[in-house]
Amino acid sequence: MILILMGPPGAGKGTQAKQLVDKYGIPQLSTGDMLRAARRSGSDLGNKVAAIMDSGKLVSDEIVIALIEEKFDAGDAKEGAILDGFPRTPAQAEALDAMLDAKGRKVDAVLSIHVSDEDVVRRNSGRRTCPVDGASYHLEFKPPKREGLCDHDGAALVHREDDMPDKIRVRLEAYHRDTAPVLAYFEPKGLVKTVDGTGSIAEVFARLTGAIG
Ligand code: AP5
Repeated sequence: MILILMGPPGAGKGTQAKQLVDKYGIPQLSTGDMLRAARRSGSDLGNKVAAIMDSGKLVSDEIVIALIEEKFDAGDAKEGAILDGFPRTPAQAEALDAMLDAKGRKVDAVLSIHVSDEDVVRRNSGRRTCPVDGASYHLEFKPPKREGLCDHDGAALVHREDDMPDKIRVRLEAYHRDTAPVLAYFEPKGLVKTVDGTGSIAEVFARLTGAIG
């Protein structure tokens, strides 16, 4: 099963993907997480993308397509995958289809999590993440057990640079301009299922699993 999770920045894609991984036993492939891991490692790729990510703009199609292809070629998605944050432009969607086609595989569903721009701002500005394992919390909606510290490893939580208000605006613009057309790409294939992303994390999860069927 190959699922694509779409939605504006902070819609809850990462939060939901982790629960879908547990339910369906297939891995989450998040291009955002891959890029952040590259940054943490100090690799050439990480250094190249750091400023772009902090600005809220999209990294080039070539880079993210190569990251996803590498995962598929390594067999990470042999049982299926939950693609989180990819594809994000029509060119990425076409490249994904071409890659899957060459492997005799296809996308099974595109789950679009809908939340308003106001909710995007609230969710991103209250998000705190663990710099060690990437776990995501929210000051109001999903606070850690100990204030400011990751539940898993006790690391001090950070406010992501691209979660600052001016960067959230840039990311929202990129979403509406570059990523919303990806839904139009998959729509004629009958793959898009739109899910209301408001309400509790559990409520959104129930809607998503209902849509997957
Ligand atoms: P990426 O990491 O993919 O960022 P994003 O799409 O902006 O999405 P986020 O990870 O910020 O949010 P999310 O939807 O996963 O929400 P979350 O679950 O954390 O990409 C970062 C950057 O990398 C991009 O800007 C770009 O530069 C680059 N990049 C990545 N992929 C790329 C690509 N394919 N092409 C080009 N560039 C690429 O939830 C958010 C907050 O809300 C959390 O605090 C959470 O606890 C809370 N929350 C979640 N659900 C709920 C709920 N139901 N109610 C209340 N709060 C909730």
